[in-house]
Amino acid sequence: MENLSELLHRRRSIRKYQSSELTEDEIRRLFAAPLMAPSSKRCTPWEFVLVRDKDRLEALGACRAANSAFVSKAALVAVVIADTEKTDVWVEDASIAAAYLQLQVEECGLGSCWVQLRKRQTADGRSSEDYVRELLQIPDKYGVLCMVAIGRKAEEKKPFDDERMQWQKLHCDSFGQSLQQL
Ligand SMILES: Cc1cc2nc3c(=O)[nH]c(=O)nc-3n(C[C@H](O)[C@H](O)[C@H](O)COP(=O)(O)O)c2cc1C
Repeated sequence: MENLSELLHRRRSIRKYQSSELTEDEIRRLFAAPLMAPSSKRCTPWEFVLVRDKDRLEALGACRAANSAFVSKAALVAVVIADTEKTDVWVEDASIAAAYLQLQVEECGLGSCWVQLRKRQTADGRSSEDYVRELLQIPDKYGVLCMVAIGRKAEEKKPFDDERMQWQKLHCDSFGQSLQQL
């Protein structure tokens, strides 16, 4: 197992995928990670709709006016949803689970990209959440947060460059005091 810092540096959004499928073992390993994610009061409101069917992947690609078409070429798309009746902080819970999934994808040597659905629209102005809810028959009580497109990488990206680390985002003891001033 590699060190967490190396993994965090290496993870980048990957939007080009090879055509090969993922194995059942790979899928199980990937999804063990979000299933271990922390959640408010351990209510685990998240669920994941795994899409591999080519026609449905194609339809998912049209869920946004822009920045989503590439998902149709993914080997697998995980639609991240959460039971809004379980908690009022389902967005936070589901976001953490999606981030865990993306890190596990990277650890497995695969690539992924988050595609936002909540508060986004299709090309004809429909809510992306409702578009995906209808396509995948997701019950109304579930909030639809995002999709995580996953596949074997067909593009390489440079790891995170420490020169870009925004240390000024850290405030010490009060907002006006930066880390450099200490
Ligand atoms: C909340 C959130 C929403 C995002 N939505 C999209 C999206 O709809 N389409 C897309 O291609 N990338 C999306 N991304 C990926 C970001 O563009 C990407 O993480 C950012 O540019 C930094 O690049 P990196 O992931 O390679 O470090 C999203 C990421 C986050 C965290």
